Amino acid sequence: MIDWGTGTYELTATQLAPAAERAVAAAEIVPGDRVLDVACGTGNAALLAAMRGAQVTGVDQAERLLEVAAGRARAAGVEVDWRAGDAVALPCEDDAFDAALSVFGVIFAPAAPAVAELVRVTAPGGRVVLVTWTREGTVAAGSGILRRAMADTGAIPAAGPGLDPAVVDWGDPEHLAGLFAPHGGEVEVERYGHAFEGASPEAFADEWMERHPMWLSGREALGDEAFAALRDPLVAVLSEGNEDPDAFRATSTALVVHVQLP
Ligand SMILES: C[S@@+](CC[C@H](N)C(=O)[O-])C[C@H]1O[C@@H](n2cnc3c(N)ncnc32)[C@H](O)[C@@H]1O
Repeated sequence: MIDWGTGTYELTATQLAPAAERAVAAAEIVPGDRVLDVACGTGNAALLAAMRGAQVTGVDQAERLLEVAAGRARAAGVEVDWRAGDAVALPCEDDAFDAALSVFGVIFAPAAPAVAELVRVTAPGGRVVLVTWTREGTVAAGSGILRRAMADTGAIPAAGPGLDPAVVDWGDPEHLAGLFAPHGGEVEVERYGHAFEGASPEAFADEWMERHPMWLSGREALGDEAFAALRDPLVAVLSEGNEDPDAFRATSTALVVHVQLP
């Protein structure tokens, strides 16, 4: 179980901001839309939707991140209804939203129940937009180092998108279509390259290992020594996939998943 409130998720949220822009654009948010951002973290997508004039609710299970999100909303001069809650038991009424978004969010929750909740709270004819990771690319390979180490201890299953018990490939369009099929949702998927940047592969690895909630959860499960031993293989993977000889840049493939509900 990852405690997303530990460490400094804010750093990662900055790197993921372009994905929220894609989600809000794909959902075609217009003024007055009722919008839900599930697993909103520090509020990247929720804030963008609110800036478009939508009535926005943001739900996340990490209360510290909701406080950060609320501070950002105040600074931006927009109102968002922030609620602590679980993606598989959303604190929201049935049919309450025109659009439900989740940017690298529900991929950390059990898939079928999280999809059922997205559909339940979205009004008939509404849309769901997700951004998910595929397993392609250097950053996914780097995360895989932690995942394999944790799977070896039995702390998590051997597969899965993050460190989550839901063993689902959220990067497989067929699988995604299958998740929404029971709800009559029509799924369209667009792939894009999401670039991660840093000063060097070493600096990027250290930022992850010292500040990213997922890696900090890994340190707790593995113990300090086994955790520290992951740095060299991580730096090796990041160096091998580095696209910028003067710094660090690696492009991962992500999916923008647009679901039209009946
Ligand atoms: C990678 S972050 C993405 C955050 C945000 N959507 C963004 O784009 O920056 C994953 C988020 O999912 C949240 N999360 C994970 N599992 C959750 C669950 N079952 N219910 C609610 N939030 C969850 C975490 O607290 C974290 O904020």
